[in-house]
Amino acid sequence: MENSNTATSERVSILDQTPSFDSLLTSSAPSSDTIPVTLYINGAEQTLQIDPRVTLLDVLREYIGLTGTKKGCDHGQCGACTVLVEGQRINSCLALAVSYDREQITTIEGLAEGEDLHPVQEAFLHHDAFQCGYCTPGQIMSAVGLLSEGHAKTDAEIREQMSGNICRCGAYANILAAVREVCDNEQNSSASAPQAK
Ligand code: FES
Ligand code: FES
Repeated sequence: MENSNTATSERVSILDQTPSFDSLLTSSAPSSDTIPVTLYINGAEQTLQIDPRVTLLDVLREYIGLTGTKKGCDHGQCGACTVLVEGQRINSCLALAVSYDREQITTIEGLAEGEDLHPVQEAFLHHDAFQCGYCTPGQIMSAVGLLSEGHAKTDAEIREQMSGNICRCGAYANILAAVREVCDNEQNSSASAPQAK
């Protein structure tokens, strides 16, 4: 039978070996444990020297200071950390930042143009599609990705395509209405656009 004191001391020793969060994020000084990575975040070039185990989410929040992207579960279950990489939706909590060297990353902070909100942001305000707001950046980024993918035409398809984004406040009906509105506007404007001859 396992001696409980031995088990406890083994656990403590494992914890002692786990790198602290601060040790994963480094200063600009290179070390043998870090590698350089260049990310284009919301159009701005960011060259960092980081531990290869750091997630994109932690780089955004803790290193760059872009805290709009939220950490919910940190396990790929809730969608709060959704960002776009080259226009594709990903859960940044599951993504190692070094995997995206020289790629274009868009976060919630990169959607508005000056004072002009992105149409999805406007629609979320219009439909009151949030309560606490914690899931909202991820919901909006996911909706932006979904709209550019062009797969969702019906309410059922929008629900399915947004199903990776959990809202603990249960604002789903209003979120759906917001995404539906932008989807409809895009379909109407493309239908009324003059056809090339
Ligand atoms: S924080 Fe990434 S999916 Fe929940
Ligand atoms: S608005 Fe609170 S979790 Fe979605």
